[in-house]
Amino acid sequence: MTQNTTAAAQLHPADPADAPWWRDAVIYQIYPRSWADSDGDGIGDLPGITARLPYLRDLGVDAIWLSPFYVSPMHDAGYDVADYRNIDPIFGSLDDADALIAGAHDLGLKVIVDLVPNHSSSAHEWFQAALAAEPGSAERGRYIFREGKGENGEEPPNNWPSVFGGNGWTRVTEADGTPGQWYLHIFDTTQPDYDWTNPEVGDEFASILEFWCERGVDGFRVDVAHGLVKEEGLPDWDGPLQMLDNSDAALPSGEDEPIRVHEAGPGAKPPMWDQEGVHEIYRRWRSLLDKQPSPERILCAEAWVKPESQLARYVRSDEMHQAFNFDFLDTHWNAERFRNVITTSFEENDAVGAPTTWVLSNHDVVRHASRLGLDQSLPRPNGIAADQAQPNAELGLRRARAATMLMLGLPGSAYIYQGEELGLPESTDMPDEFRQDPTFHRTEGKEIGRDGCRVPIPWVRDAPSLGFGPSDRTWLPQPESYGAYAVDQQAGVAGSTLELYRSMLAARREAGLGLGSAAWHELSGGDVIAFVNASADDSRRTLVLVNLGAEPLVLPAGTVVTHQSEDLTTEGHVPTDVAVWARI
Ligand code: NOJ
Ligand code: MG
Repeated sequence: MTQNTTAAAQLHPADPADAPWWRDAVIYQIYPRSWADSDGDGIGDLPGITARLPYLRDLGVDAIWLSPFYVSPMHDAGYDVADYRNIDPIFGSLDDADALIAGAHDLGLKVIVDLVPNHSSSAHEWFQAALAAEPGSAERGRYIFREGKGENGEEPPNNWPSVFGGNGWTRVTEADGTPGQWYLHIFDTTQPDYDWTNPEVGDEFASILEFWCERGVDGFRVDVAHGLVKEEGLPDWDGPLQMLDNSDAALPSGEDEPIRVHEAGPGAKPPMWDQEGVHEIYRRWRSLLDKQPSPERILCAEAWVKPESQLARYVRSDEMHQAFNFDFLDTHWNAERFRNVITTSFEENDAVGAPTTWVLSNHDVVRHASRLGLDQSLPRPNGIAADQAQPNAELGLRRARAATMLMLGLPGSAYIYQGEELGLPESTDMPDEFRQDPTFHRTEGKEIGRDGCRVPIPWVRDAPSLGFGPSDRTWLPQPESYGAYAVDQQAGVAGSTLELYRSMLAARREAGLGLGSAAWHELSGGDVIAFVNASADDSRRTLVLVNLGAEPLVLPAGTVVTHQSEDLTTEGHVPTDVAVWARI
C-alpha cells in the first residue's frame, strides 16, 4: 500500500450541529415532465409529483428541486419561459403548485424551484413587444439587439456561437418587412438573452423571486448563473466556438476534461461567461432573500466556471448559498483525480465559508451509471447514440454505486438526479425521430444531446408506461431494459440500488455526515480514496473508502463495515470499484 503524503491531513472542519438546513441538505432533482404522469398524456405533471412525494420522504432526502414548470412553448423543455408567474397547462396550474409545495412541507421536504434569468422564451410578452417595436426603443432595450456587420447589416454583430450549435444571433424582420437588427441568444433562437445592464430586468427578477417566496418556496436553482452579464462592447471571442462533438478523440491534455463552449475556464475569459457584474446581481438577491421569514431560502448556482477558486466567488457569504460542483461530476474514474478535486473543493469553499455542493448527475449530462461504464480516457460525451461505443452497464453501475457512496460520505450538500437511486442507465437506443433536445437539431445530429437522460422513470415493471402514468404514453420512449430497474423491482430487495440509497441516506442523516469534518485516512493514496468523516465533538467517526485498484484492499483488523456498495466476498476485503463506510 502506497502511503500518501496527505495521509491524516485535515481537509475540512466540521459544521456545528445547528447549522442552517442547506449546508448538509440532500436535494432530489425532479424533472417534472419525466417523473410521474397523473393524467395519462405521457408527460409528467405537478399532481403526479404531489401524489408520489411519500416515496421521497421514504427515500430520505431533505428537499426537492423542480426543473422549470412555467408557461413555455417547450423549445428547450421549459428552459424557455414565457410567463414566470404561472404554470404551463401540461404540468397543471398554480393551485397544483400550491398543493405540491404544501404537500412537500407537510412531509418535511423543502422545495427549490428553477429560475431562468439569462433569457426568456421568444414567446414572452416582453420579447413580442420588442419585435413589434423599433430599433432603439425601450422594448428592445430589455434584450440584446444590435445592428449587423457588413454593408447591409447582413452579418451577425459578433462571432459568438450558440451553446446548442450554430450562430448565437438571429436577424429579425422589421415592421416594414425589411431585414433588420439581430438579437443575441446564447442558447436556442427561441431563447433571447436579457440585457442585464437594463435596471428594468433586475427589478422584474426581484419581483419574480418575491412572487415565489410568497408561494412558500425554499429556494432557487439559478440557471446559467455565470452568463447574465456580457463583456461590454460584446467583443469577438477567440476561444472554442463549438460544442465538443461526439468524436472518439482522446482528451486533449490526456487528462482533464476540455473546456466546453458553455464554460469559463482558467486563462482567457470568454466575453459571455463569468463577468464580474454577475456578483452584484446575486448580492441583491441574497439581501432580498435574507429579508424573508425563516427558514432560510437559498440560491444555488448553475455556473460552469473553472477553476474552483473562481466558482467559489459565487458562494461568498453575501451571494449564493450553493454552487454545483461540476468538477466533481466531471471527474473520471481515477482515485488521484478524485482526491485532488475533493481537496481543492474543500480548500476553496472553506475559504469563503460555504459548504461544497456535490453532484454526479442531472438532466444535462449522461447518467453516471452509464458515464462511468465508458472508456475513461475519453471526454464526457453529450449523449450516446446507438451507433457509438456503448457503456459497459455492469461496470458503470458498480462504479456509480461506489461513486455515490463517496459523494454521500462527504460533508456538504448533495444533489441526486431522479432515477439515479434506481441505478438507471442512459437511454442509448432512442430512435432519432423522438429526439427533442435543440442541440441534436441545431447540430444536425452531430451532438446527440440530452434526451437519453430525460426518459420517464420506471415505477412498476408490469404496468403501462412502467407505472409512469395511467396510460402507455410517454413523451420519450422507455428502453426495454428499464423494466428491471423499476421501483417495485427494487423496493425491499436487499442489495438493490434503491435500498442502498435508502440506507445511505438514513445513515448519513443519523451520523450527521453532511456536517462532519473530513481528514484523509492513512489508507488514502494510489488507487484508494479514504477519509474519516467525524462529528464536531468527535463522538462519531466514519471511514469512507473507495478502492479503484485492481486488487482487493484489506481493511485494518477490527474495522466494522456498516455499508458497502457491493457484497464483500471476503470479510474485511474491499474488491475493485467498491466503496465502504465503516465505524472506526
Ligand atoms: C442549463 C439547463 O440545465 C439546461 O437544461 C438548459 O438547456 C440551459 N441551461 C439553457 O437554459
Ligand atoms: Mg400529464
